[in-house]
Amino acid sequence: MFLSLRTYLREEKPKDMSQQNEQFKKVVAHCKEYGFIFQSSEVYDGLSAAYDYGPYGVELKNNIKEYWWRSMVQMHENIVGIDAAIFMHPKTWKASGHVDAFNDPLIDNKDNNRRFRADQLIEGYAEKLQEKIDKEVIKARKRFKDNFDETKFLAESPRVVGYREQIKTVMDRFIKATGDGDMVELKAIIEDYEIADPETGSRNWTDVRQFNLMFSTQLGNIAGEEGKLYLRPETAQGIFVNFLNVQKSTRQKIPFGIAQIGKAFRNEIVARQFIFRMREFEQMEMQFFVRPGSEMQWYKYWKESRMKWHEAIGTPAEKLRFHDHDNLAHYANAAVDIEFEFPFGFKELEGIHSRTDFDLTSHQELSGKKLQYFDPELNENYVPYVVETSIGCDRMFLALISNALQEETLTSTSGKESTREVLKIHPALAPVKVAVLPLKRNEDGLVNMAKDIFKQLSFSFNCQYDDTGSIGKLYRRQDAIGTPFCVTVDFESLDDNTVTIRDRDTLEQERVPIEKIEAIVRDRVNMKQLFS
Ligand code: GAP
Repeated sequence: MFLSLRTYLREEKPKDMSQQNEQFKKVVAHCKEYGFIFQSSEVYDGLSAAYDYGPYGVELKNNIKEYWWRSMVQMHENIVGIDAAIFMHPKTWKASGHVDAFNDPLIDNKDNNRRFRADQLIEGYAEKLQEKIDKEVIKARKRFKDNFDETKFLAESPRVVGYREQIKTVMDRFIKATGDGDMVELKAIIEDYEIADPETGSRNWTDVRQFNLMFSTQLGNIAGEEGKLYLRPETAQGIFVNFLNVQKSTRQKIPFGIAQIGKAFRNEIVARQFIFRMREFEQMEMQFFVRPGSEMQWYKYWKESRMKWHEAIGTPAEKLRFHDHDNLAHYANAAVDIEFEFPFGFKELEGIHSRTDFDLTSHQELSGKKLQYFDPELNENYVPYVVETSIGCDRMFLALISNALQEETLTSTSGKESTREVLKIHPALAPVKVAVLPLKRNEDGLVNMAKDIFKQLSFSFNCQYDDTGSIGKLYRRQDAIGTPFCVTVDFESLDDNTVTIRDRDTLEQERVPIEKIEAIVRDRVNMKQLFS
């Protein structure tokens, strides 16, 4: 959960923060304007950290889920899927460690009653120091131009050296306090470095205390503590408790996996950055059950396999990186994040964890039921080890759309320049695959032919018919929602049954017979390409 010192003493070239913020604002505004994502309950001024997916958002999200499901379940003969209930027996969360340890350190500001995560306040302080270093580097690079030696500058500039030492001291204390679960020390760090509420500047803090992130609710027919239920904070436990049900009913042999897509809920103290951190979100998780001792081999396999999954949709390799965990959770013997460079910097997109036999053993102990596998090759029973891949669907959505949204300058044949906003999403994931547009909306012949083509194509793809503006405007709208193909019906179409088909990325227009449209589109939007 906490970032490492390495994250703060950046090794990559500093980025211009204001540019990053601008890009992020554009992504958020685009999502609203084009019907991808709306603030939940907006008419009541919204509910923080809850979002609704609009007409294009739900299509894109479903396509992400389908891509994940097909590559994990359909493409692996030894992985099967389930859809477990969100409510689980409360003992589940005792066994998993969530009741006792799924906490964040909470601190309140006494002047304004605002709540913060103590760790985020301290990390924010270190991040500010790092930004000061970045600014010094940018200034020096401008001043010394080609003669600038960044490594030497970082090692010798007295101001930069001072900032770096300060980051190291504060982060060393922070990492130790976090590891020890020492809330008093966390408060001491905040006081020693005079860390203030970033908005009001107030330093009037309460003590730091642990805050459990699970939402609880009550069973209808049982009063008091006994009827207390939790909304699941991860989907994984639904898989663990079903391990034997699935193994026996599908006659799987180890190694095998169980996959699931579903909602998870966390009462995040501070939920920020749009759909990056929400209180209700969706996870795509897979638990891979292996023979004890073989887990590192499978951990390596899934690390590589998951990175390929991200790259296959065209995410540039330089925007993805692995980040090994320095502090392992109590249940893990290895853990790595796949980080993506969001507009606000590199952040966790997916986690791959070697979870040992912790979860199955805990459920076995607390339930008193055996959760063991009989290995016919070894002729013995054991509790399998587990390698988990876990990705947030919403975070994947944000990564995809942040990477895809581009502003391009176009030059017409007459030399006139214009800009377009285009979502360069892989065609297989695009919300709408093809738009059918009549060149003129008042011409019955064109409209009828376009509607007929739309009807035919809609048997195969999610498509759109649109005649609400000039053809230029219609193209721009389809570019903005990422539609890979636009079919235009013009007067020539009425004579020879051909149409033009425009490619979103190259802008090339090809004249093709109507009966060929489906095959052309199918070829490009087929998810099959992503799997090869
Ligand atoms: N079963 C393991 C597990 O839940 P995690 O690192 O806590 O691990 C896995 O969560 C993934 O779920 C993260 O990599 C992230 O993509 C997503 N995720 C976690 N908390 C989230 C939140 N509050 N909002 C959106 N996505 C979240």
